[in-house]
Order: sequence, then C-alpha cells, then structure tokens
Amino acid sequence: MTGSSRGIGRASALAMARAGANVVVHYRRDGNAAEETANEIRGLGKQALVLKAEIESEDELRAMFDRIKDEFGHLDVLMANAAASAFKPIADLKGYHLDRTYRVVLHSLVQCVQLAVPLMAGRQGRIITMSSMGSRFTLPRYAALGTAKAALESLTRYIAAEYGPEGITCNALNPGVVATESAKFYGADHYDAYERDVLAHTPLGRLAEPEDIADVAVFLASDAARFITGQTIRVDGGLTLTTGGFESF
Ligand SMILES: NC(=O)c1ccc[n+]([C@@H]2O[C@H](COP(=O)([O-])OP(=O)(O)OC[C@H]3O[C@@H](n4cnc5c(N)ncnc54)[C@H](OP(=O)(O)O)[C@@H]3O)[C@@H](O)[C@H]2O)c1
Repeated sequence: MTGSSRGIGRASALAMARAGANVVVHYRRDGNAAEETANEIRGLGKQALVLKAEIESEDELRAMFDRIKDEFGHLDVLMANAAASAFKPIADLKGYHLDRTYRVVLHSLVQCVQLAVPLMAGRQGRIITMSSMGSRFTLPRYAALGTAKAALESLTRYIAAEYGPEGITCNALNPGVVATESAKFYGADHYDAYERDVLAHTPLGRLAEPEDIADVAVFLASDAARFITGQTIRVDGGLTLTTGGFESF
C-alpha cells in the first residue's frame, strides 16, 4: 500500500488488515505516522512491515520490493495510492512540476507493477490504482495532477489487458473530495468555500471519509471482484452527477 502513513492509504491499510491481510505500510517522510498505522494493524492481529521509499526513485522502489520479497515471499495486492503534485495554473507550471508529478503518478506505477507482478505468480493478484475527478473534469490549479490521473486511468486499462492472462486484475478508484490533509492543502486559504461548493453539489450531502474509499478498495481486492478489471470506479457520493449551471431552475 503506497502512501499509507495517512489519509486514504492509511484507512485502506487498516481496512485490508481488518479483512485479514498482512500489510506493507509505505511512507516517504512521516515515519511516526507510518508506525502509528502499523501499530494499529498489529493491534488487529495482523503483520505490518513499515518501509520508507521516495517513489520518484527507482532505486528506493526496487529496495522496497526486495524487502517485501525477503519478508513475505509474495504479494497479493498492490495498491498504488501515493501521489503529490503542484497545484498551479498552467501559466505558472514549470517543467519540473510536470516531471515530478508524472514520475510520482505514472513512472512509479509502471515500476511498481514490474516489481510486484513476479511476487503475484500463481496468486490471483490485484492491482488497485488511485485516480481523481480531475482526470475527467477541469478543476482550478489542477492541470498537472489531472492530466497525470487521466493517463493513470489509461495505464490501468493497459495493465488490466497485459496482465489479465496471468490472473491479475487492475482497477482504478476515482474518489470525489475526501477529507484528508491533501484536500486541505489543495483548498488552501479557500478551503471553507471549496467545501461549501462541494457539499452543495453532492447528493449524498457530505465529503467522503477515507474509509468510504478504503471499503471499495477491500471489495476490489476480494474474491467478490474477481471478474472486474480495467475499470475506473467513482466513489464520490454523486458529486460528478450534475453539470452545474442549473441552480436557478
Ligand atoms: N483527498 C482527496 O480529496 C482525494 C481525491 C481524489 C483522489 N485522491 C488521491 O488519493 C490518493 C491519496 O490521497 P490522500 O488525500 O490520502 O493524500 P495524503 O493525505 O496527502 O497522503 C499522501 C500519501 O502519499 C505519500 N507520498 C506522497 N508523495 C510521495 C512520494 N513522492 N513518494 C512516496 N510517498 C509519497 C505520503 O507519505 P508521507 O506523508 O510520508 O510524505 C502519504 O502517505 C492520492 O493519489 C490522491 O491523488 C485524493
């Protein structure tokens, strides 16, 4: 589970453990938060292995999967959840913003898949990727991450097609707005207004909690989802059902 020190990754790591999985808790900077996730998993009676890796680094990713192989010998589920980007208008985007975003979201996924698949041999592997509504809809200051997520959904379909014959499924989750630190970082000084607008357009009347997304991840990892592959599944309380522009009717 990449990026499981906090947010959706943390909730998904805990939900997977509750469903019976031993979990690799991956993080980049916040080792204490990763240890807290791991301790909760151990409290549920499952194993947790905490591993640090900058997912922009091919060497660090390789070292992480080497450790997973040494500790567990196999892998049933890869959930590629971690992401980070620069939230800027196109006019202010520099090449390194795009390079880093695409490396974190896309290059790392390709490499994680290359490293994970050999550990899934003979095990009905599951790959779960994490998109966002910016893949399809235009959001303010979101061009770098939105375009990366659009490509990630395409990559999800390619992974599903190429690895299906090995019994591996690959699906993307596409959450709406989830109450996490990164949503606060994105909303910045305008977070309250942003939350108000999102609530006004969400038929189910609240932001997503990380657990709303985690529960669907557990479903995708389960045997019940064995014939679903190459799909992008929205988990957004209906946020993307309306186009806007009809408020006065
Ligand atoms: N929150 C939302 O509203 C929302 C909506 C749609 C989609 N999503 C997607 O859901 C995923 C998780 O989002 P979140 O809100 O839970 O994020 P978050 O709270 O910001 O957590 C991000 C996680 O990713 C790790 N991470 C970030 N950059 C990394 C890098 N370069 N190398 C290694 N690890 C890195 C962080 O580790 P450290 O803390 O150790 O740095 C952290 O564990 C992302 O893919 C995001 O795009 C979020």
